[in-house]
Amino acid sequence: MIELQDLRKEFQTKTGPVTALDGINLTVPDAAVHGIVGPSGAGKSTLIRCLTLLERPTAGAVKIGGENLAALPEKQLRGQRRRIGMVFQHVNLFDSRTARDNVAYPLRVSGLNRAKSRARAGELLELVGLANRGDAYPAQLSGGQQQRVGIARALASNPSVLLCDEPSSALDWATTRQVLEVIKDINQALGLTILIITHEMAVVRQVCDSVSLLSKGRIIQSGPIAEVVTDYGSQLARDLIPLAVAPVGESRAQLEVSFSSADFSIRQVLRLLADLGSDTAIEAGTLETLAGQRVGRFQLVVGVAARERVKGQLREAGLYVAESEAAK
Ligand SMILES: Nc1ncnc2c1ncn2[C@@H]1O[C@H](COP(=O)(O)OP(=O)(O)O)[C@@H](O)[C@H]1O
Ligand SMILES: [Mg+2]
Repeated sequence: MIELQDLRKEFQTKTGPVTALDGINLTVPDAAVHGIVGPSGAGKSTLIRCLTLLERPTAGAVKIGGENLAALPEKQLRGQRRRIGMVFQHVNLFDSRTARDNVAYPLRVSGLNRAKSRARAGELLELVGLANRGDAYPAQLSGGQQQRVGIARALASNPSVLLCDEPSSALDWATTRQVLEVIKDINQALGLTILIITHEMAVVRQVCDSVSLLSKGRIIQSGPIAEVVTDYGSQLARDLIPLAVAPVGESRAQLEVSFSSADFSIRQVLRLLADLGSDTAIEAGTLETLAGQRVGRFQLVVGVAARERVKGQLREAGLYVAESEAAK
């Protein structure tokens, strides 16, 4: 379990103090995959550096399995850090070592003998689907395979927590999916608690059980995917179910409708939307399966004269309706 309690980080700069983390409270239960998203400068990297105590927090607690790492002196911290595996955007493998030796390297450093290190590295490579690539050098591996070697290396010290900082930003989408599948597999196989920092909502959709939105050093929305995605007007719901932006004419209004299969028959909602009248058009729509439910978000363009009637009809049916900014 990861627990962050009132975590704060201030940097002293020439122009004065900068607050990078402004009171972060977050609990990630054992074996959960939690995503942290947020715009550039939100504090994501600082958060991950504080979690590993590479950066000392100004205040607050960083608890891994109940132990507050922020309270430990440097010497004890070194041992505790082994409980945290790290995966980065850029893998930084040794070019002159094979995949197996790259994974074995941290084991050798920690004092394990050569034979045992190599055997363990072999097991770890198998876990990430690279059982038969142990003798390959990084240059002979694809970007996705290199990232998987990086994941195997991160698992070498048997961590209970894996931190991933933008693990897929350097990869194309097909490769990203494979790497995320490996992350999900090891989460399930090893019961590892995983924190993923990403700017890609697709990553959150594919692997995360829960998500937090970071902005200006604070968590402004957080929760299980099923909950945030049905908090329809919220930033995370809109980011998780994106819609194309369509231009709207002067005499038209734009309405957004959101719903979930937890509350509605999708078939019935679609029928209702299709039958709103000739002055109503479905302009854009997304249906996603998230956290085991179908979640839909549709954009309607409505003649101004029909706007109130259509809004009333949709709300009467119990649907969430928002009027887009452009329509006001
Ligand atoms: N070493 C540092 N010294 C001064 N300011 C920093 C330092 N590291 C980060 N910051 C500031 O803290 C804020 C958060 O940065 P960062 O954690 O890198 O955000 P993100 O990873 O979400 O883009 C930014 O305003 C950044 O300028
Ligand atoms: Mg960053």
